[in-house]
Amino acid sequence: MVTQPIHMACFFRRRIASKLSRCLGLPEDTFISALCAIPVSKKQQSPDFRLSVKALLSKGILPDNGDLEAQTKTLANQLQQDDVVEEIFAGRGVIHFRVSRIQLVQKVLEQSRKERDKFGMKSELLKGLKKGTTVVEFSSPNIAKKFHAGHLRSTIIGNFIANLKGSLGNNVIRMNYLGDWGMQFGLLAAGFQSFGCQEKLKMNPLQHLFDVYVQVNREAENDEAVEQAGREFFRQLEQHEQHAMALWRQFREITVSEYRKVYKRLGVHFDVYSGESFHQKQAQEVVLRLQTQGLLKTTEKGTGVVDLSPSGDMSNYSTLLRSDGTSLYITRDLAAAINRKEIHNFDEMIYVTDKSQGNHFQQLFQILLAMGHLWAERCQHVPFGLVQGMKTRLGEVVFLEDVLDEAQARMLRNMSQAKTTKEMDDPEDTAEKVGISALIIQDFKGPLVSDYKFDWDRILQAQGDTGVFLQYTHARLCSPSAVWNAIAIQEPTACASSADCYDEVLYQSACDLQPKHLVNFLMTLSHLAASAHRHLPVKGSPQPATVYPSDTKSLFSCVCTVLANGMRILGITPVEKI
Ligand code: ARG
Repeated sequence: MVTQPIHMACFFRRRIASKLSRCLGLPEDTFISALCAIPVSKKQQSPDFRLSVKALLSKGILPDNGDLEAQTKTLANQLQQDDVVEEIFAGRGVIHFRVSRIQLVQKVLEQSRKERDKFGMKSELLKGLKKGTTVVEFSSPNIAKKFHAGHLRSTIIGNFIANLKGSLGNNVIRMNYLGDWGMQFGLLAAGFQSFGCQEKLKMNPLQHLFDVYVQVNREAENDEAVEQAGREFFRQLEQHEQHAMALWRQFREITVSEYRKVYKRLGVHFDVYSGESFHQKQAQEVVLRLQTQGLLKTTEKGTGVVDLSPSGDMSNYSTLLRSDGTSLYITRDLAAAINRKEIHNFDEMIYVTDKSQGNHFQQLFQILLAMGHLWAERCQHVPFGLVQGMKTRLGEVVFLEDVLDEAQARMLRNMSQAKTTKEMDDPEDTAEKVGISALIIQDFKGPLVSDYKFDWDRILQAQGDTGVFLQYTHARLCSPSAVWNAIAIQEPTACASSADCYDEVLYQSACDLQPKHLVNFLMTLSHLAASAHRHLPVKGSPQPATVYPSDTKSLFSCVCTVLANGMRILGITPVEKI
């Protein structure tokens, strides 16, 4: 649970804090941060805020008389209810507060009218977050290799983090760090020189490079000469020999232009396409610097290493130079980080990769700090878990395009079978957007670091906590034909109290960079809205009780805005018709 900073002061929170302040003779701010908003649940009459008396006692804010229960009850009884805070009741060591539903709806509507599509974004809570330049490095596939599920995860998670940071007012630099250098690239180029084909490269670049790469690796396993040719090509690259560089440049340009197309389908863009290759020269400089700082040691095998063990016994070290003098992945990452700091002068940098690279980034940050780059304290690795079983009809996923095609095709089929599907101008486009939402929601539901099993049928269901359900709900709320004026009393107010928490949810996500808070929030809001929709009266039936019927429509348009904004931060394009 994220602790609430002092400045967090929504209307209701302030109101309750002022009651406590008057009753206990302590400043209002003491209680503002101590009050915890309770997520909306489907239970009727559930409270909105909780105050832990136990915590106040243990922090010494209130004197402890030894009987927690009695003390909690007495305090709860002393607090006066009013037309805003309608219910106050004691639980075990906690006091619950429930605010007026009518006031709640009105406050949310007032805010919605004032802030419109910036709803929630102007909150004090969010203003208090640090702003600055944030580099988010994500996706980062390797030229000629498979774009596996891990790269897809990195792409959508990084996009979410960049969107979130951007929406909170940071200057975000979205960076793709291509795997375009190293021994593997030397092997690819050597392979292309012996059995590559320019024609095929132009026709179907990613496929051809992949085929060459697979073949050359197979050959290198049995033939030392092939391996040697790869090493030789990489050496030439490191020396910047012209013909080697020309081939390298061609592969890189073709790959980037292919990727751009697919990222566009995903709604993802990058400000910078960088790559490991950019840092070869700087990598040499880093090595020199480490040498002059006395940090680089040469081993008996001739490799260059940095000892990272606390007691200097090499129990933890990182290799930066091969015995032939060529650089490694971490050498290039060091150079890249220093170079980015020089160019972008970022305030923070976030790397998004699978958790197997956790140790790599720890070492990277440690070396940077040892070199005196204190800004490495503000570099962060966001790790994620494995996805098992992401397959398409054609088998294993090789390219990002395969996943997107599959999501679209399956969604299109589901839409054509659903009775409720509307007439639309471009069903393929809708199917793609909804299919992508399904992928994203499935991926973002749990803690990022968890592994999960991928299942097309499950993620594409129209009911339950899926991206498809989210899109359906959003589309329904957009529909002008809906009769919003007579909706049962419970859901609209619950929607309001849910929408009211939007800023807190964004705050939580900004603190730990986990999308699950936002996903859970959007799901709850959608379920409430969908349930309200189900309560729409059938023509001619008696009208149920309403809260300010004329306002209900505005409330739902506010919910629709919040849903759409939240979806966009997640990287989902909301559709208006399904
Ligand atoms: N290209 C790498 C891979 O596919 C990911 C790069 C991560 N970023 C970094 N700065 N090392 O595993």
